[in-house]
Amino acid sequence: MERVVQQLDILTEADKEACELPRISKEENRGNTRRMYIESYGCQMNFADSEIVTAILQEQGFDTTSDFNTADLILLNTCAIRDNAEQKVRHRLQHLVNVKKRRPGTLIGVLGCMAERLKSKLLEEEKIVDMVVGPDAYRDLPRLVDEADGGQRAVNVFLSREETYADISPVRLNSNGVTAFISIMRGCDNMCSFCVVPFTRGRERSRDPHSIVAEARDLFDKGYRDVTLLGQNVDSYRLTPDPSPKERGGNNSSPLGGGREGAVTFAQLLEMVAQVHPDLRVRFTTSHPKDLTDEVLHTMARYENICKYIHLPAQSGNSRVLRQMNRTYDREWYLERVAAIRRILGEDCGISTDMIAGFCSETEEEHAETLSLMDEVKYDFAYMFAYSERPNTPAAKKLADDVPHETKIRRLNEIIARQQQHSLERNRLDLNKVHKVLVEGFSKRSNEHLQGRNSQNKVVVFPKKHYQKGDYVHVLVTDCTNATLLGEAV
Ligand code: SAH
Ligand code: SF4
Ligand code: F3S
Repeated sequence: MERVVQQLDILTEADKEACELPRISKEENRGNTRRMYIESYGCQMNFADSEIVTAILQEQGFDTTSDFNTADLILLNTCAIRDNAEQKVRHRLQHLVNVKKRRPGTLIGVLGCMAERLKSKLLEEEKIVDMVVGPDAYRDLPRLVDEADGGQRAVNVFLSREETYADISPVRLNSNGVTAFISIMRGCDNMCSFCVVPFTRGRERSRDPHSIVAEARDLFDKGYRDVTLLGQNVDSYRLTPDPSPKERGGNNSSPLGGGREGAVTFAQLLEMVAQVHPDLRVRFTTSHPKDLTDEVLHTMARYENICKYIHLPAQSGNSRVLRQMNRTYDREWYLERVAAIRRILGEDCGISTDMIAGFCSETEEEHAETLSLMDEVKYDFAYMFAYSERPNTPAAKKLADDVPHETKIRRLNEIIARQQQHSLERNRLDLNKVHKVLVEGFSKRSNEHLQGRNSQNKVVVFPKKHYQKGDYVHVLVTDCTNATLLGEAV
């Protein structure tokens, strides 16, 4: 029993790394009369959404606070990806019962993926919740807050085919002033059988490229030096411009008239953002192995400021399991995409993955193929999870969640142990080399050290000297752990 408990600790750690701790809004006083507090769970897209929500509510006269005890409006922007992500939010709501007792006028809203999954059921289950708002309904927040102020319980969980919040300028929360996220698309059309995202985020849609480039330029002008373009499957980004009035009238002489020829692909968007400034680093996540094209890899190779790092989730190393997952590629296809990365970008391009242990009907041999895929690729980093069945997903409807919990945890621990070896091996290859590091702030352990990342997304720590946040520094790496490179500015 004790062993299982210990192993559960490891599971929590892995999940923490993936989801991190909730992000909390900071104090910002603009002289408004009401204050909002927002806490975000889940993926970077959710963190980016919280910045949109804050922008919308600031317009409505809300300042932000980092202390929910002083807030008039408490928002939890939630994640539904695994059961433990939802449990965290449930615990948080329990905790907020006391706040509501002390200050009965405080409004509590649940936003994001859990709101979308549970809809008004959440109001029945969690009595203290005043508002339930899905990811495509944030423009409606002012009206929903009014309704809740008037004593009604307010719900909007409509999903949209168009909403991208393209015109809303996010209020950066928890910002280090150097790195920022830019959402380039929303939703997902992939239907991986284990995944709740297509249900919580709706259909895939791409955001207008000009608004993306404008946001990147604005960030650069404000001193930011590293932007990450976000989407569940960035390689399927495609935006076909609206036809001009003349073309709508049926004259198809312009290349835009045919639609497809005028479309902006992800490779083109990447190039447009890279051209904002050579000192602006560009990253992106997530790449789906079925859609990652050589064109994207060649674009990365052409621009020094497009970071040489690809998050390419495999989920499993076994082709039968991948078919059950409806990932639409097999082991061979995946390895060919890794070979293309190595061919076009070289051995030192960073590659990371997501892996799921103990998916429905996974055998010991199939699990061993996940480990052998890891041996072949040698990932720099991985997010690793035990399979958690999500209600109403294709897997929940059609497949039995039949791998015992203990087996899932044991396999997960084997995957984690293997990854720790590989991370250390990969980091050792970086020793005695000079890395260009963008400084993001002080190291976690000491104010005498700075930390930043290299192009391959590895954290590098070095003595501060006269360097500052936002500087590019050349660091000779002399030591490493499996998580960090250590060195000295040269
Ligand atoms: N769009 C991304 C993934 C977003 S979800 C992609 O396609 O890769 C992030 C990760 O959570 C997934 O890659 C997967 O590894 C994990 N995940 C998703 N659903 C899960 C579930 N039901 N149980 C365990 N892990 C899950
Ligand atoms: Fe989920 Fe698959 Fe879409 Fe990723 S690509 S969000 S795993 S359905
Ligand atoms: Fe979670 Fe929704 Fe992101 S389910 S991982 S917050 S898209």
